[in-house]
Amino acid sequence: MTRRSLMIGCGSYLPERIISNDELAARLDTSDAWIRQRTGIGQRHVAAEGEKTGDMAIRAAERALAHAGLEGEDIDLIVLATATPDDTFPATAARVQAAIGALNGFAFDVQAVCAGFIYALAIADNFIRAGQARTALVIGAETFSRLLDWNDRATCVLFGDGAGAVVLRAADQAPGAPSWGVLSTHLHTDGRQRDILYVDGGPSSTGTVGHLRMVGKEVYKHAVTKLAAVIDEALTANGLDASSVDWLVPHQANRRIIESMAHKLGMPLDKVVCTIERHANTSAASVPLALDEAVRDGRVKAGDLVLFEAIGGGLAWGAGLVRFGVPAEAAPAPVEIRREEVEPIA
Ligand code: ACO
Repeated sequence: MTRRSLMIGCGSYLPERIISNDELAARLDTSDAWIRQRTGIGQRHVAAEGEKTGDMAIRAAERALAHAGLEGEDIDLIVLATATPDDTFPATAARVQAAIGALNGFAFDVQAVCAGFIYALAIADNFIRAGQARTALVIGAETFSRLLDWNDRATCVLFGDGAGAVVLRAADQAPGAPSWGVLSTHLHTDGRQRDILYVDGGPSSTGTVGHLRMVGKEVYKHAVTKLAAVIDEALTANGLDASSVDWLVPHQANRRIIESMAHKLGMPLDKVVCTIERHANTSAASVPLALDEAVRDGRVKAGDLVLFEAIGGGLAWGAGLVRFGVPAEAAPAPVEIRREEVEPIA
């Protein structure tokens, strides 16, 4: 038997407030036409004053649990990807754990900026395959609006806030049976490229939160080549070619980067989930936000092969191939967990 992580539910949350390109153009030397033409972005959601990354993560987690038909107590692992945690510590994931009553396991944050969701997915999948967790929440949640220099037109127009989550559940699959769930994940980092995308602050450098700084053109060049390579790596590892992929759910940083990946895969654009026009770049939240939208509107269905990819500060990038949902004919038998069951905290 092969232990795999089925992706059994998803959920997302966007803050109410929307800032249009025109609203930005009213206070900055930019225009709707420039932003749309260079990036594909038309608007972004921005958290309300006092609304934190953890608040959005909790809403997305609750929706993902409801979609999966589970309660908080069914979750024994929470991995939350964010570069904008509520506090320096404790982990925002611990706040989510308390809020949803997932007190039967453990929770921590992962920081890989825009690639964070792919990293968190890989980590949770590995915990499940190793038998150390059975049912995991993987969350990407960000309030990038708090990291932006709102006077820097080259960066502040690009980002938005939001959260997305998926539920993974262990299932043992018989040899030769069609593979469902997370088929593989592929992660890379190149720390030498730090200076093309970073935040000029931090608890142990300046003691301030800092602002996002980016050499956009350089990031763009790396994104196109590195994402193409990691997509190849994911397909090759599974003995698949691009024609097997039902949906590309990419990180939403720039419409031109997304289109270039679709072109590389020979995929028509109607097989690419693209939310950048309405969400902008929500960093670690962008992939699960896009997935949730496509699942809710009926595009992504159980059994579809979904390719995820993302790149961001680090540079850190990665890809994952997932056959979404639960096989209808064989709801997986629950698997026993190897680690000792811990008593719930009263
Ligand atoms: N409005 C109008 N003009 C602008 C704006 C703006 N908002 N921003 C920059 N410009 C100007 C620049 O000042 C420059 O003017 P100049 O020629 O007079 O100097 C001109 O537009 C061109 O600027 P570039 O930066 O060269 O524009 P480019 O075509 O590269 O587009 C962009 C910029 C959209 C940022 C693009 O480089 C990009 O998308 N890069 C990739 C970003 C990315 O993928 N990030 C991923 C991860 S993010 C994360 O991890 C946090």
